[in-house]
Amino acid sequence: MPKLVKPRGVLVAGNWKMNHGPKAAHAFLSELAQALASTHSAKPPAGLRAAVLTPAVTLSAALQAVQEHPTLQGWLQVGAQNAHHEPSGAYTGELSGPLLREIGIGLALVGHSERRQLFGETDETAGQRLSSLLHQGFQVIFCVGETLGQRQAKATAKTVLGQLEWAHRVAAARREPWDASRLIIAYEPVWAIGTGLTATPGQAQEVHALIRGWLEGKGLGQTPVLYGGSVTPENFAGLLECPDVDGGLVGGASLKSASFLKLIETGAQAI
Ligand code: 13P
Repeated sequence: MPKLVKPRGVLVAGNWKMNHGPKAAHAFLSELAQALASTHSAKPPAGLRAAVLTPAVTLSAALQAVQEHPTLQGWLQVGAQNAHHEPSGAYTGELSGPLLREIGIGLALVGHSERRQLFGETDETAGQRLSSLLHQGFQVIFCVGETLGQRQAKATAKTVLGQLEWAHRVAAARREPWDASRLIIAYEPVWAIGTGLTATPGQAQEVHALIRGWLEGKGLGQTPVLYGGSVTPENFAGLLECPDVDGGLVGGASLKSASFLKLIETGAQAI
């Protein structure tokens, strides 16, 4: 067996944010399946995984589309963009782990900077959600990242490692130790999200290496760390050359199936 160039494989996760209802998701996934079936490798290589994180109303249709297309099964997951830490209760507008499980979802994103900046989520609430969902058996993508002001104040390391440390303490207080096999970290510099400003591979690698060191110190060495922030089919290969970048969390460039396919193909080439 040849050794994987990327020891933790590559994950390409599309965060659709507030885009793509059930019909659009079905069309997207059918196009993706057809495009894959018409290439010589109908399924990506072992070690390559993909996910689409859809609006809540789209989850069931996206799952059904994956079931209809065998070429997508086993490597493309459908996930939610957030979920509350409580299993049920008076939390208007929220989704919980058990509600997601009921429709067959086992992956969720937590702590996205848009949730933190626009919807008042904090290190504490993001940590609660992460810890509770991991404990419920979910795979969770947990986002961390600094603002432009924090970067300019040379507080990137302090901010990012502080976010991780806070969440880790929440898990300890809740007696819900993290399971490294289901945890995924996404480093998303806030200044790079939706701005067209991507971190250079050097900037990304610097922070990813810090995160990897922190994870190893906690016995969580197998946890993948994705980069997010204006990832495109053009810049993804360069980012994947960084030894500690294990994939991408992609917003805008994940919305068209042709662009998402290019990201997947780039991920496959990196393995
Ligand atoms: P963009 O790729 O549109 O910059 O979004 C990144 C992001 O926020 C993914 O979660």
